[in-house]
Amino acid sequence: MASIIGDNFKVSIFGQSHGEAIGTVIDGFPAGFSVDVEKLQNFLNTRAPGGHLATPRKEADKVEFLSGIVDGVLCGAPLAAIIRNTNTRSGDYKELMDVPRPGHADFTARIKYGGAQDVRGGGHFSGRLTAPLCIAGGIARQILEAQGIKVYARIKQIGSAKDSPFSEFPDEKKMEALDGACYPVYGGESVAEKMMAEIEAARNDLDSVGGIIECAVFGLPAGLGEPMFDGAEGVISKVVFGIPAVKGIEFGSGFSGSAMRGSENNDPFYYDNDGNVKTATNNHGGILGGITSGMPLYFSVAIKPTPSIAKTQQSISFSNKENTELNVKGRHDPCIVARAVPCVISAAALAVYDMVKKADFKSKSKF
Ligand SMILES: Cc1cc2nc3c(=O)[nH]c(=O)nc-3n(C[C@H](O)[C@H](O)[C@H](O)COP(=O)(O)O)c2cc1C
Repeated sequence: MASIIGDNFKVSIFGQSHGEAIGTVIDGFPAGFSVDVEKLQNFLNTRAPGGHLATPRKEADKVEFLSGIVDGVLCGAPLAAIIRNTNTRSGDYKELMDVPRPGHADFTARIKYGGAQDVRGGGHFSGRLTAPLCIAGGIARQILEAQGIKVYARIKQIGSAKDSPFSEFPDEKKMEALDGACYPVYGGESVAEKMMAEIEAARNDLDSVGGIIECAVFGLPAGLGEPMFDGAEGVISKVVFGIPAVKGIEFGSGFSGSAMRGSENNDPFYYDNDGNVKTATNNHGGILGGITSGMPLYFSVAIKPTPSIAKTQQSISFSNKENTELNVKGRHDPCIVARAVPCVISAAALAVYDMVKKADFKSKSKF
């Protein structure tokens, strides 16, 4: 497996859903930085199971630091942090060794790891592995924030219930105000209620729904990203696709931009009153040629419906070599979109931190 990210710092994610613990080891965060541990824990809580309409698997997701931090200050040694798995019911998963869940990684993991993979709770493929991602991403977000770079996300759609679109640009103040909300949406309670109704309807049908999360990064300098293959879109996408259930990403006007005329999709340049180059619109989503433009960077992420559903599904039995029906047991969210919001923020923060760190190296280099 390659659960390691970062070119200019390293983040490794380890563990399985029903193992002893899940965790992360990070090498390259700045020594001397004071982590706001309470803020980090609050951030992790927005991902944790147990909310209204979420999985009944209740776990505190309490972060424990093993090394790299003394009295809340990063000391320069590799930072190791874990979350212990406490609320596991592995009996729910015995059948899945033989009968793979449609839409989950049971089949492909068996092919790749020859049956040695840990299927309990989805093993290393579980959404639970996004908790250590959020530890690393939550700290990266704090480091970026101290440099004036802010990362936020909102829910754009769940099922067919949509939030209102950005007007011209992602709105930093609105997104900041929504930070940490169960349903961070521009449209307020009425939109959140429509989304919750979609989830409830899916649950009542023994089914699940997916949705779209929009993430924005404010305060980024122009010039980050290394074309051709380490451009900003590529670096961000690589980390975002590490989040289980992510099936698509689009930057700026994305797919809808492809239906526009060039004159409509191009963002006119202008000098503002302080002599800074800006664009009047932001269809490019803050990236041109793989390089950040200095305008807010934004992208949308498609999250598929939770694969484990209570409805009877068609599958196969490896042992009998025949087609069979599957009734998935265990505790699963009918929708994981809200819990994926901090995961998308974390992925963006880690990718952006990697690019910022590279630029920092470059600016300090003589050549
Ligand atoms: C926060 C989060 C929670 C998740 N919870 C579940 C779950 O309860 N049940 C489930 O079947 N899948 C869940 N998933 C999604 C699966 O882990 C994922 O669909 C599976 O590993 C297959 O990977 P893929 O969808 O990326 O192809 C969750 C994903 C995330 C991000």
